[in-house]
Amino acid sequence: MRSPASGTHPTRTITTRISAPSPLATVRELFPALAESTEIYLDSAATTQKPLPVVETIHRYHTSRTANAGRGTYPWATELTTRLVRVRDRMAAFIGAESAAEVVFTGGATAALNAVALSWGLAELDDGDEILYNPRDHASNVHPWHHLRQLLARFGRHIELVPYRVTELGEADTADILAKVGPRTRLITTSHLHHVFGGLTTLEELRGKLDPRILLCFDCSQSGGHMPLDVTELGADFAIFAAHKMFGAPGTGILYCHRRVHNRLLPFLPGGNTGVDLTDAGLTSTGMPELLEGGTQNIPGILALGSALEVLESLDVGVIAAHNRALTLRLIDNLRPVPGLEFLPGPAHAPCAIGYGIVSFTLAGISATDLGFVLGELGFLVRTGLHCSPRAGDEATDSVRVSTHIYNTVEEIDRFAACVKTIAEEVT
Ligand SMILES: Cc1ncc(COP(=O)(O)O)c(C=O)c1O
Repeated sequence: MRSPASGTHPTRTITTRISAPSPLATVRELFPALAESTEIYLDSAATTQKPLPVVETIHRYHTSRTANAGRGTYPWATELTTRLVRVRDRMAAFIGAESAAEVVFTGGATAALNAVALSWGLAELDDGDEILYNPRDHASNVHPWHHLRQLLARFGRHIELVPYRVTELGEADTADILAKVGPRTRLITTSHLHHVFGGLTTLEELRGKLDPRILLCFDCSQSGGHMPLDVTELGADFAIFAAHKMFGAPGTGILYCHRRVHNRLLPFLPGGNTGVDLTDAGLTSTGMPELLEGGTQNIPGILALGSALEVLESLDVGVIAAHNRALTLRLIDNLRPVPGLEFLPGPAHAPCAIGYGIVSFTLAGISATDLGFVLGELGFLVRTGLHCSPRAGDEATDSVRVSTHIYNTVEEIDRFAACVKTIAEEVT
């Protein structure tokens, strides 16, 4: 991918750059937790397995030259500061950001989405302004907006949250969005890859049809590290990533903020090492990305993100996407004839061969929770329930979610589908 320093976009072909699958026999050896287990891990949408370099980086931080970063002037501290700068640069390049100043380290995807609501929403929104959102998205892309609305109401500002629909393919319904966009729309927020349906939303259909003042927020928690992705190509003003879903450690997230919004943000966590100064005029910004960062950072988590990015780059995200697509299609084909099985919205309903490593379904005669329990006992590790979708989205249905990554094999998919078939025959 491009260097963040380049500042231009010579090519815009990343979304279509999906390479052919390559032999992946040795990939599993990179992931120690897989090597030591006989279970089949099909829950990478919850968190990915951790490759050895990530594990070693975290271990090494705690066992050698442990220090804080961005503070001391002795070599242990300054080396760490330099390494964090390099990770930020690498992350910026990885997601196609134009500058590292657009990359904020957060405590996770949830923290990043709340940072958008609090640092942008509190500062910017007026009475009557509207946010368009998907009530069937992950709660972390729903609750922060409701929280923001409640907070603003306490100060006499009443904003509207306008829900939009999801298509049968599990994507944001762009026709519905377009119908609901109005003169007071300030933000459209969406998951890039839906965490239950596995549908991809780029909002490409809306390009050129929206008032450029409307900001776009993409929750890329499920797509980051799973497919080639370029935030500039997406037209994102905000984009959110969860490091632990891209081979990194929990407690580390990334908030991309396009530079055009930088002067519209309030500090999120004012405190030590934040990008603010206390002057006679109150807190004044000293710049991004520190404006939205505060306190001691998750240093091992950020260093581990650097190692995770190295692994992702060496495996090639295009290869990962192609592998996930092949597994998704095979899973759908294998599950389609199972009696009583119904797919939730998503690629299973698409007329063409699409798929991004997430498939959810229900089975007649057994609840998703019970099915998940039985599958778990048989060694298939899948997620069941609502998958953190808000219960208030009344269409929300408990389901079984299968999610794959580069370390999953065709044989695992076949064994899983055969097991579901056997259970279906017993319960129907
Ligand atoms: C789409 C999506 N957004 C946000 C989150 C929240 O991520 P985190 O728990 O790392 O804050 C998740 C986690 O499952 C997710 O799938």
